[in-house]
Amino acid sequence: MVTVRNIRRLRRTVAPALVALGAVAAAVTATLSGPALAQDNTAEEIAKYRQMLAEGNPAELWEAAGEELWKKPAGPKNASLEQCDLGKGPGVTKGAYAELPRYFKDANKVMDLEQRLAYCRVTLQGLTQEEATKNPFASQGKPSDIERLAAFLTGESRGVKMNVQLTHPEEKRVYALGQKMFFYRGGAYDFACATCHAVDGQRIRLQDLPNLMTQKGAQAAYTTWPAYRVSQGEVRTMQHRLYDCLRQQRFPEPAYGSDVITALTMFLAKNANGGTYDGPNMKR
Ligand code: HEC
Repeated sequence: MVTVRNIRRLRRTVAPALVALGAVAAAVTATLSGPALAQDNTAEEIAKYRQMLAEGNPAELWEAAGEELWKKPAGPKNASLEQCDLGKGPGVTKGAYAELPRYFKDANKVMDLEQRLAYCRVTLQGLTQEEATKNPFASQGKPSDIERLAAFLTGESRGVKMNVQLTHPEEKRVYALGQKMFFYRGGAYDFACATCHAVDGQRIRLQDLPNLMTQKGAQAAYTTWPAYRVSQGEVRTMQHRLYDCLRQQRFPEPAYGSDVITALTMFLAKNANGGTYDGPNMKR
């Protein structure tokens, strides 16, 4: 949970860490121009940076920003998102993510978190669908409200057991579609998700590939997204992870928030049932 204490701690740890990174860059520049002393500084600064990151997950800053966005009136209707129904009733955020995707009667559709979020921004705040799905993935200097909101909402399920249901016929249909998609081979390499993710101990470029067909593998993978990606300096959502995998698979890029992604997410989430949700996490 994001508490004021947590945020204060993060301001103490992450902010100086970013300053330290600047110092590292400065020290590297200094090294190029000569003094041996600068080299010592660089190693020292890097060690300090590592330690600071170990003390707190920067994702908590995204969670805090997301909570602010959730509560702030916005859009043509000047309304906050606090009355959004994520499946457990209007305004209930605690534990909602652990039960998504699910069937929503008002939309007559199975939705994942991000589809539902867009739905609420349209219905409650009066945004157009296009406005509500703009900029789903941050790029340098352009933060994403969607990633921040997703960080907050998923954080509200931290410690909750995954509990995705297949009771409504639509939920069953979407799960079956996701399963089919998981095994569907295509593209230039004739790869399916299963080519990389249905075998134990498989690796690609030194990265362990989780076997998503085992309960343990599915739980470990699903319960740790979104994640702060150290290599990207951003919090990335499950949508982004799946984009990345479809790209590796040489499949066409899916439209953001498309039903194909929801189906894959349904398949992965249901297989992770019983696992304790532990996101937003931190990854390479
Ligand atoms: C060409 C191989 C390849 C294919 C095909 C592929 N992936 Fe991946 N997948 C990866 C790699 C590499 C990673 C990152 C592993 C790491 O960073 O340790 C990954 C990571 C993941 C993760 C996160 C695992 C974790 O523990 O963080 C999920 C979930 C996932 N893939 C799902 C899928 C799905 C669903 C598909 C099909 C749409 C798919 N992948 C297709 C290579 C692939």
